[in-house]
Amino acid sequence: MNPTGRPRLLLVGGAGGFIGRQLLPLLAPDFELRSVHRHAVAEEARFGAEWIPLDVGAVDDWRSIVRGVDVVVNLAWYRWASPGVFERLYAGLSRLLRAAVAEQVGRFLQVSVPPAPERLELELPYLRWKRRFDRDLAASGVPWAIVRPTLLFGPGDVLLSVMIRMIRRYPFFPMFGDGGYRVNPLAVGDLARFLRAQATAHGSGVYDLGGPETFRYRELTDLMFRVVGKRPRYWTMTPRNGIRLAGLLQAMGSRLLYAYEVEWLASGRLVQPVWDGAGVPLRRVEPYLRRLAPDSARGPATA
Ligand SMILES: NC(=O)c1ccc[n+]([C@@H]2O[C@H](COP(=O)([O-])OP(=O)(O)OC[C@H]3O[C@@H](n4cnc5c(N)ncnc54)[C@H](OP(=O)(O)O)[C@@H]3O)[C@@H](O)[C@H]2O)c1
Repeated sequence: MNPTGRPRLLLVGGAGGFIGRQLLPLLAPDFELRSVHRHAVAEEARFGAEWIPLDVGAVDDWRSIVRGVDVVVNLAWYRWASPGVFERLYAGLSRLLRAAVAEQVGRFLQVSVPPAPERLELELPYLRWKRRFDRDLAASGVPWAIVRPTLLFGPGDVLLSVMIRMIRRYPFFPMFGDGGYRVNPLAVGDLARFLRAQATAHGSGVYDLGGPETFRYRELTDLMFRVVGKRPRYWTMTPRNGIRLAGLLQAMGSRLLYAYEVEWLASGRLVQPVWDGAGVPLRRVEPYLRRLAPDSARGPATA
């Protein structure tokens, strides 16, 4: 415990990202926050968090940063990067974990991802290095929680908000295969509640979290057409061609959708067990889509 009387929490990856923005207001009342990431975040200063401006991969010695810390929460990862960049981030996180062991940190939360098709698990640097860190954490001796949410929706998401914008803007929307694979999106605010509770929980484990409604992917896109007031019209292609198309866009520098994301989505493996919400009803997708729809021609939602 530190002089403020509140436990100290180290937020790795900070509160500027998609999940971090939702988590900050839930953590700030109960913890003294220390936050490691690269770009300034005004909200952190407003909540009195101490910002340590560092690239995780560049930190050689974490001891002084971790000293006196009760809980570590890691949100740092990249959606896309070269293999070397993932390896460097992994190496930085490994050094952090060693320091957490040495300094006897009380708990370490790692936000990870659902199982993926075997090929991706074996070959995709994003997953190989992430799983390796997950395994290291589970073997470290520090009490841990590895939280594996399914695809998330909420302010600033890079999937549903992008899809609805495309549906509104273009006459056809790409459909990979028959769209029969399942998804059960979880609200990022609900994930933040789970993480807040985990920060003071006991025991170690893997927590797979899915949202309350399970859709066939095509039911979800049909719903999106409905909320923007259009009749569903699809440009149907095989999942294989969908992966090719996304690969082409990716090669042209687009960050809309990556080929591995199409492969993962069309595998149906993103679906996760429904979380019970710990007594609070989980947010549903449709009201979020309805709030997004009027803004979808302009750009990502901010509220
Ligand atoms: N989004 C989803 O739907 C989803 C679903 C399941 C799991 N997840 C997992 O949840 C975690 C967080 O996802 P997110 O969507 O919140 O990601 P995000 O919006 O990209 O945020 C990640 C944050 O990490 C920081 N960061 C990245 N690389 C860093 C580095 N080398 N050193 C220091 N800080 C670094 C970035 O802040 P700075 O730029 O300031 O450094 C960024 O704000 C990831 O592990 C992701 O795989 C996400």
